Amino acid sequence: MKIIGLVCSPRTGGNTEILVEEALAAARDKGAQTELVRVADKQILPCNACDGCSDDGQCVIEDDMQEIYQRLEASDGIIFGTPVYFINVSAQAKAIMDRTYALYQKRKLRGKVAAAAVAVRRVGAGQVLALMCTWFAVHQMITVGGCIGYGLKKGAVREGTGAGPRSTALGEAKSIGKAVVDMISRTTK
Ligand SMILES: Cc1cc2nc3c(=O)[nH]c(=O)nc-3n(C[C@H](O)[C@H](O)[C@H](O)COP(=O)(O)O)c2cc1C
Repeated sequence: MKIIGLVCSPRTGGNTEILVEEALAAARDKGAQTELVRVADKQILPCNACDGCSDDGQCVIEDDMQEIYQRLEASDGIIFGTPVYFINVSAQAKAIMDRTYALYQKRKLRGKVAAAAVAVRRVGAGQVLALMCTWFAVHQMITVGGCIGYGLKKGAVREGTGAGPRSTALGEAKSIGKAVVDMISRTTK
């Protein structure tokens, strides 16, 4: 069972990365094979609407997204991490989302299990989580929801709360890692 974690923050070792790594660690504890991809280390151009993918589902832009396409296709589960930037996903996250238009042509993400990990200072995580879950649904992925981690400065999410008043950010991150593994096990029986 392979689970890929995408970290779509430009801040290496930041709050999004901490949440995604916590979720992946919990998934590894349940036997999954995991890999973490820092999207900010990659060169990923925006979709240019050339429609080159419409026939065969192959994106013609030759950049690091080609490698991410392969990793997404090879995965059983996806943990998609983004910080909240002005009540939305980061630009890195949006570039990835738009570029999956190529995978959408042949519904290559259908049936994969997905969860979101959202890092935020204080406002907008609910909207971003809802948006991510809608994007999962458009791809016909199976979502187990997501986690929210509150924190502003790098690393603050380690002490931050989660979406619920009594939940911690790291506790929620662990829960989604486990939930993704459980759902993959159920759907592949
Ligand atoms: C450009 C920018 C926009 C931001 N917009 C918001 C926002 O709309 N709401 C919010 O609560 N925090 C906002 N933040 C704070 C980040 O969401 C927060 O610091 C988060 O923990 C960053 O995660 P990271 O360490 O993975 O980058 C913004 C930060 C930046 C740099």
